[in-house]
Order: sequence, then C-alpha cells, then structure tokens
Amino acid sequence: MTEVPDPTHETVGLLEALGTTRAIRRYRNEPIPTDDLAKILWFAGRAPSGSNRQAFRFLTLLDGPNATRARQVLGESFRHGWAVKREQDNYRPSRFADSMQEYVDKFESHPVVILVCLDRYRDPNWHEGASVYPACQNLLLAARGLGYGGALTMWHLEVETELREILSIPAHVALSACITLGIPVGRHGPLRRKPVNQVTFDDAWGQAPQWAEIPDPI
Ligand SMILES: Cc1cc2nc3c(=O)[nH]c(=O)nc-3n(C[C@H](O)[C@H](O)[C@H](O)COP(=O)(O)O)c2cc1C
Repeated sequence: MTEVPDPTHETVGLLEALGTTRAIRRYRNEPIPTDDLAKILWFAGRAPSGSNRQAFRFLTLLDGPNATRARQVLGESFRHGWAVKREQDNYRPSRFADSMQEYVDKFESHPVVILVCLDRYRDPNWHEGASVYPACQNLLLAARGLGYGGALTMWHLEVETELREILSIPAHVALSACITLGIPVGRHGPLRRKPVNQVTFDDAWGQAPQWAEIPDPI
C-alpha cells in the first residue's frame, strides 16, 4: 500500500474522491517527493485521449533555473488575474477571497507547479481540450489519492509568450492548464454543485427527468 504524506489523510474510495475533491489552494510548506510526483503523473497519463494519441505533456516547474523564472512570471500573472477577477466579480471580503489572495501571493513557493500541455496534431479549432482535460482531472484525483491537493487554473494564459520563451515550448504545443499541488492545509469536500436534475435533460433540451431527482449518494 502506498504511504501517504499526511498523517491525517485517509484513503478514500473512488466515488468518495469524485464527490469530495475540491480545488485546494493552501499548501503546507513541504515539498512533494519526486517519487510521488512521478506516480501522480503516471495516473494522469492513464487518462483517455482521442485515438489514444496521448498528446498531453506535463511540464513540471520545480526548482530548476527556468522553473524559478517561470514561477516568477506566473506569480505576477496570477496576482494580476485575481486582482482583475476580484474587482470585476465584486468579491466581498470573505474566507474565500482571503484564501485566493494568499494563493496568488505565495504562488512562487507552491510545492509543485505543472503546465499541462497538448502537443497539437490537429487544427487548434478542433475540440482539443477533450484530449487533455481528462488527464488534468486524473492528475488531481491521483494527487488526492496520495494525500495531496491541487487547483487547475488558467492564469498562465496572460504570460504564455514569456513562458514559451523561458521554457522553450514550441509553437505547436498548447498550454492547456496550470496546476498547483501540495499537501493541503484544510480538508476536501463536500462540494457545492447543482443537483443532477438541474444539469440533466432527457429526450429534449430543457426536459428534466424525474429519475434525476435523487438524494446525494454520499
Ligand atoms: C477550466 C477551469 C479553469 C479554472 N481556472 C481557475 C483559475 O484561473 N484560477 C483559480 O484559482 N481556479 C481556477 N479553476 C478552479 C475552479 O475555480 C474550481 O474548480 C471551482 O470554483 C470549483 O471549486 P471547488 O472545486 O473548490 O468546489 C478552474 C477550473 C477549471 C475546470
């Protein structure tokens, strides 16, 4: 059985993990051993992709010289991204707003940052996310399974040009997501999500089926 890094971490079953894994943005100041990181990426790579081409790529930003520079550039972008969102969406002072602020303020020191990329083999207008986001979700669930937590973010897009230059990312590669990982401060789930009958239609758009009115299964 795999050892988990967090003594309070309990192994969870697949369905419980699906039902409770939330975005974790506060991490203990402890690294993720590369053995565990490699395992997380193994599970991420088990994800399905179109024609099983497995064109997803994981660019880890740990403590190398390029990674350090990329983290600085990303940190600035994340702080700007949150500042804009906070203003635009009119976030009031709250625990969530505080945790977001802390998340972006401490970006450079998050234990692991991963750029999840897609080595494009089709026109970018094709639904290319379909072959990379399953791997992102596998990655987050595998991290959960090993006692870690993470957040999938998009605030790397504003500095994509700089990142390509610093990290030598070729033009044909899409930068699909930026994921941070670490040992959670705080716990997973429960999740605030819509009930099944609000997101499910049967037979025609807008027709909520009665069978979709169920109590939460966990
Ligand atoms: C496509 C996508 C883009 C996201 N972008 C960001 C982001 O830029 N910054 C961030 O902090 N979280 C981002 N998230 C995380 C979501 O905010 C989070 O999953 C959602 O609010 C649900 O929160 P919960 O999982 O904690 O319940 C993103 C998630 C997805 C799937």
